[in-house]
Amino acid sequence: MRASFGKITLLAALTLAACAPVPGQEVPYVQTPFHVVEAMLRLAEVTRDDVVYDLGSGDGRIVIAAARDFGARGVGIEIDPRLVAESTRWAVRDRVADRVRFVQQDLFQTDLTPATVLTLYITRELNLRLRPKILRELRPGARVVSHRFDMGDWAPDRHVRVPGEGGDYEVYMWVVPERR
Ligand SMILES: C[S@@+](CC[C@H](N)C(=O)[O-])C[C@H]1O[C@@H](n2cnc3c(N)ncnc32)[C@H](O)[C@@H]1O
Repeated sequence: MRASFGKITLLAALTLAACAPVPGQEVPYVQTPFHVVEAMLRLAEVTRDDVVYDLGSGDGRIVIAAARDFGARGVGIEIDPRLVAESTRWAVRDRVADRVRFVQQDLFQTDLTPATVLTLYITRELNLRLRPKILRELRPGARVVSHRFDMGDWAPDRHVRVPGEGGDYEVYMWVVPERR
């Protein structure tokens, strides 16, 4: 009895440790459903010529799908080293490790200049904080796609609702304008 209680306690401790926030984590880990990932990449019209950056890449699913299903290259930026490790394993399993990489980094410290497509599932507040950096660093014509959260008074070029079991998922897309 004692031994099994000990096992349960250990399991609970490991589960809590796996979910515990890491320093600098500004938004918790929540996954974009796979069919919404596909809708995001289609909305951005991703091709093999694109370099897709996902800021806060979680288990890497957006970047891996961009490489596996659209032939793009990709970079996932993630603050949690456990998720970076999981993404890297998954990229090997899906045979795209030569076209994607995952970096443990704060998304505000990331150089966005190589990206032609930027994907986001963070929060509206973080989108708004990122907006000046996006407009400064992304080249004109680059596409930004956000699951769920908009960019305030920067109106999206396109907006779709993707049906789901619990309701619709909002996906927004902006094209970075020419610099004035
Ligand atoms: C809502 S999840 C989205 C995961 C994935 N992009 C998806 O759509 O399935 C947000 C992710 O951002 C990461 N994150 C939070 N703060 C961050 C930061 N400052 N820099 C980089 N990643 C961060 C979290 O660890 C989490 O994995």
